[in-house]
Amino acid sequence: MVKGFVREKNQSEKFYRENLNFMERNMAMARIQGIFQPLVQVISALAYVIVLAFGGYLAIHSFITLGDFVAFNMYLGELVWPMMAIGWVVNLIQRGQASMKRINVLLSYPAEVQESANVAAVTQLSGQVSVQQLSFQYPDAPAPALSGISFQLFPGKQIGIIGRTGAGKSTLCNLLIRLMEASAGSIRYDGIDIRQIPLQTLREQIGYVPQDNFLFSTTLRENIAFHPYSISQEEVVWAAKVAQIYDEIMAMPKQFDTVIGVRGITLSGGQKQRVAIARALVKHPRLLLLDDCLSAVDTQTEEKILQGLKQVMPECATLFISHRISSIMDADEILVIEEGQILERGTHAQLLAKGGLYTQLYERQQLEHEVVNS
Ligand SMILES: Nc1ncnc2c1ncn2[C@@H]1O[C@H](COP(=O)(O)OP(=O)(O)OP(=O)(O)O)[C@@H](O)[C@H]1O
Ligand SMILES: [Mg+2]
Repeated sequence: MVKGFVREKNQSEKFYRENLNFMERNMAMARIQGIFQPLVQVISALAYVIVLAFGGYLAIHSFITLGDFVAFNMYLGELVWPMMAIGWVVNLIQRGQASMKRINVLLSYPAEVQESANVAAVTQLSGQVSVQQLSFQYPDAPAPALSGISFQLFPGKQIGIIGRTGAGKSTLCNLLIRLMEASAGSIRYDGIDIRQIPLQTLREQIGYVPQDNFLFSTTLRENIAFHPYSISQEEVVWAAKVAQIYDEIMAMPKQFDTVIGVRGITLSGGQKQRVAIARALVKHPRLLLLDDCLSAVDTQTEEKILQGLKQVMPECATLFISHRISSIMDADEILVIEEGQILERGTHAQLLAKGGLYTQLYERQQLEHEVVNS
């Protein structure tokens, strides 16, 4: 980004200013330390001078014995170091407190979604989803991002969602996996309200591929087998094959042991997306939420992946969000979302017969396709 937008000068100035600030603060501390340590030593030396002068005077005039004087001197010597050590410990505690304050701000941050007090004892979901009059408004947003969304999804069925950018598709996914709490309406899995399902069950049973996938800077194997339980190599290979990334991984010199860069920087956009899909598949989810996660993959590969999914996971319910009509046209039901509401719904044929927004999108995309292929 810095190079692409020729921001080297600004960034290095910013970095320089930060460093200058850091240096000045450290210098201030060094100055205080520089005064403090000699001061402590001067004071302790002064104590000896006072004891020597005043104690010497008392001993000479026989107010105290020589033994008392020597003993007092020794006690003083024994006390100097513990006193310094106390000062040192106080210093350490204060530094620690300053850091602890910052750590505590983070630790005391409340989770947006909390586990409900009386959850049902469910560990399995079948993939049956029922959404009723679902609405959601972001805090401080002027209008709701979603309102009055209702649909039903059954095991083995596919729902396709299409809609303009900002329509509320990703918001719906976040609600389905309970990363946020709905403002109104209900989401039910197998007839159980989402708030009654333990978060662990919910998130274990749903394979979610977010729009902006996040890969870790570790091996491809660990990126795919990102699961609370250990996953065998066969499972990882299986998931990579279904996600159509296996051949590309095998062509890499270290194959599944290839370490990828921070946020997957050493992979192409389409490769990243397919690794993210493999990660969701390895869980054998009962519900797959695919949020525009094949946008960087060509249509042929996309079709292969979707066909593969149907074959290997016939029982899995799928909610598939896309901007390309070609990828959702085979879905059992298609929802066209516009400004947080379902504008049109039905199968591909039914929607085309309506001649609404879906038809417009379809015709435009057909036209683009023809232009590209001609
Ligand atoms: N964290 C947030 N806080 C406030 N508003 C948000 C937040 N995330 C999204 N929005 C707003 O909610 C609306 C719906 O956003 P959402 O991400 O669901 O759209 P989308 O349909 O997924 O779009 P795209 O196709 O571009 O991915 C948008 O108007 C967006 O500006
Ligand atoms: Mg989105």
